[in-house]
Amino acid sequence: MTNKKKVGILGATGAVGQRFIQLLENHPQFEITALAASEGSAGKTYQEAVTWRMETAIPENLKNQVVQTCVPEMDVDFVLSALPSDQAKVVEPAFAQAGFAVVSNASTFRMHSDVPLMIPEVNPGHSELIPIQRQIRGWKGFIVTNPNCVTVGLALPLKALHDAFEVTAVNVVTFQARSGAGYPGPPPELIDDNVLPYIGGEEEKVESEPQKILGQLQSPASFKVSAQCTRVNVSDGHFECLNIGLKQKASIEEIKQVLANFSGVPQQAKLYSAPQKPIWLSEDEMRPQPKLDRDNARGMAVTVGRVRSCPILDVRMAILSHNTIRGAAGAALLNAELLLHQGYL
Ligand SMILES: NC(=O)c1ccc[n+]([C@@H]2O[C@H](COP(=O)([O-])OP(=O)(O)OC[C@H]3O[C@@H](n4cnc5c(N)ncnc54)[C@H](OP(=O)(O)O)[C@@H]3O)[C@@H](O)[C@H]2O)c1
Repeated sequence: MTNKKKVGILGATGAVGQRFIQLLENHPQFEITALAASEGSAGKTYQEAVTWRMETAIPENLKNQVVQTCVPEMDVDFVLSALPSDQAKVVEPAFAQAGFAVVSNASTFRMHSDVPLMIPEVNPGHSELIPIQRQIRGWKGFIVTNPNCVTVGLALPLKALHDAFEVTAVNVVTFQARSGAGYPGPPPELIDDNVLPYIGGEEEKVESEPQKILGQLQSPASFKVSAQCTRVNVSDGHFECLNIGLKQKASIEEIKQVLANFSGVPQQAKLYSAPQKPIWLSEDEMRPQPKLDRDNARGMAVTVGRVRSCPILDVRMAILSHNTIRGAAGAALLNAELLLHQGYL
């Protein structure tokens, strides 16, 4: 007999779904009791349905678990969703209406004003939208979302700087990994020896999500973000170059100190997936690098390097975060741990 919360994975066979399964192996509070994907996978055992791409093996207890369709008839306490946004649009409200908590990666509901868009270190109080959402939509369950994989990495240092010096403007150029495009990802003939200068819908997300997360409940922060997003031939880990304007002038040393000392509720509450330090500050001018830094703190830290003054805005830096861990599955899992800690699960 176990008192762990039972969790179902929606989109269990995809890039993010596989990460969920990997991260939930031996989790002290949650255990997977349902795996769901498309009609094409339903009815197969998990190992038949999936093209497994994680570095670790499929957990023994899930290999022969039969994959279900994404309908809210599951023996679970809540679901983690890694569905494509068009599927999430139909499936996630059906689960919320049926009384399930849905902790989602999909972009579909992120910008709805009654839906929390949360990073536990940044805006844990936005879960106060849950009762409002339930009242407006008449749901017994609810939907909570995490941001786009670029936004997660961006919002952590921005939060540290916004609290200390007030952010006035952000310019970001991204170099995003192949796995960010889901499986199978861009074909080799397109991505080998190349940089792809456009990722559909990405810049709009990066230009709007940070203000919701760094703002007050239903009142976004007022700074503007300008984003240029590219896809590069890296397996995992999104690299971002940032230029940031600050209202209160600060020295580079003060800025570094604020970044290095940043922490939040997950660290104080010692949530299981929380990194001890959410921001790893590097003084090495050759860091961060995807290959060397994406797995810092088991993929849950953002590595920040090359912090220096900027001749146009106030400060510039390079940051790196693991897109399917801190930017997706780990982000949703930490949200679920926070919601359990806050009494919502
Ligand atoms: N990859 C990232 O770095 C990343 C980061 C942040 C957020 N996200 C978001 O997370 C979500 C999943 O992304 P991904 O990269 O994991 O995508 P993916 O690799 O393409 O996986 C999609 C998953 O959804 C399932 N699915 C597809 N069509 C379905 C349908 N009609 N009904 C039910 N299930 C269906 C697939 O099952 P089958 O195998 O049966 O087709 C698969 O399990 C997306 O909303 C994405 O935007 C991804």
